Amino acid sequence: MTKTATLIIDGKTLELPIIEGTQGDRGIDISRLRAETGCITYDPGYMNTGPCKSAITFVDGENGILRYRGYPIEQIAARGSFVETAWLLIFGELPSREQLSRFSAALCEEELLHEDVKHHFEGFPPNGHPMAILSAITNSLGCYHPELLEIESRGEFYLAASKIISKVRTIAAFSYRKSTGRPFMYPNPALSYCRNFLHMMFSIPHKHYDPSPEAVRALSLFLTLHADHEQNCSTSTVRMVGSTQANLFASVSAGICALWGRLHGGANAGVVEMLEQIRDGKTSPKDCIELVKQKKFRLMGFGHRIYKNFDPRARILKDAAHDLLLKLGKLDPLLDIAMELEAAALADPYFTERKLYPNVDFYSGIILRALNIPVSMFPVMFAIGRMPGWIAHWYEENQEQTKIHRPRQVYTGQIIRDYVPIDER
Ligand code: ACO
Repeated sequence: MTKTATLIIDGKTLELPIIEGTQGDRGIDISRLRAETGCITYDPGYMNTGPCKSAITFVDGENGILRYRGYPIEQIAARGSFVETAWLLIFGELPSREQLSRFSAALCEEELLHEDVKHHFEGFPPNGHPMAILSAITNSLGCYHPELLEIESRGEFYLAASKIISKVRTIAAFSYRKSTGRPFMYPNPALSYCRNFLHMMFSIPHKHYDPSPEAVRALSLFLTLHADHEQNCSTSTVRMVGSTQANLFASVSAGICALWGRLHGGANAGVVEMLEQIRDGKTSPKDCIELVKQKKFRLMGFGHRIYKNFDPRARILKDAAHDLLLKLGKLDPLLDIAMELEAAALADPYFTERKLYPNVDFYSGIILRALNIPVSMFPVMFAIGRMPGWIAHWYEENQEQTKIHRPRQVYTGQIIRDYVPIDER
């Protein structure tokens, strides 16, 4: 029997069905609410709102659990690769050996940009932020693949997904090269996904960059851990844009824009800037925490809308950062500062009472620094990683054929006024 919640408004009783997920999540189905009562729900920041059902990623923030398609993130991180994870998220199952090799071949096939796209890069100023370039050029891919603006079959979706997952890496690397004034390095189909990206970033003509297997593995891990996180702000943006039947290129490019903000994917850059300030003596962990308590500062890489416990990705990244530095024989004072700051925060009731713990961004920058990725590229790296999740959610939204996302509001403005001509105001 369907469980219901009873709502009484103005003496009228309404039975609202309760829908249950496979993990016991419960949602009150309010789709009849306005029609039957004239009321809407008021939920700033959508803190209690589920605009969809989804079978892609499960997060239990109270217990620090994250699973992609049912697989614990710890297992995927230890044994999977980014390309395998992308397949899992997009198509729902772990790929067979043959599926994985066909998908990898498709990614190689799609790695080049149309030659004319290079002219777009020339149009950007040298100090243009790579996130702006990434978003603009990802959107412009729709001009080069008009046959994929409307996806009508699974085959077309496969093609569009492969194009985006592959080309976003080329666009990202080219945007970095543009910002450094270096020539674009064409992708090399003989290289794996992550190695190829590092080649496009750091090779120079006649000097091939050959990263260590540890560096390649760390990049794959970084991307894997960022690959999806259910209805976060950028993913919700992609779903919202997709709900208008906007094409996949436009929808994921909107996701890139949403990700850019400091409270979301821009936080990884904010963390490193904060740690650098401590390293340079401009502030100290103690001062940072004092400023936080005076509400003058937010500790970047701390806190999460969903996690009220350790973000499992932060734990993995912290260990991975240690490991990578050790294997590369590098020292990074920022890692010690990050650990000192984490310890100081977690010893303070301000943080424990509010359940603020390190999130995915707190240690990820240490890994990116070890790979020589500049801070301006940090959110871009996040976007490359999140692409499979955005694509999977866009497709799920599309398949569900839900309604266009169109929230309501509680209007608080002027009631009605007569127009006043300009010389009488
Ligand atoms: N530093 C200091 N205080 C914080 C922090 C922080 N990083 N995060 C939350 N708080 C405090 C708030 O001031 C608030 O305190 P109050 O109850 O006294 O007013 C309380 O904790 C609750 O915070 P909210 O802002 O209501 O929490 P919300 O769920 O809306 O925000 C967010 C989540 C945006 C991630 C927030 O924790 C934050 O700003 N963190 C820093 C930025 C960051 O790391 N973003 C990356 C998030 S992960 C991701 O997107 C990939």
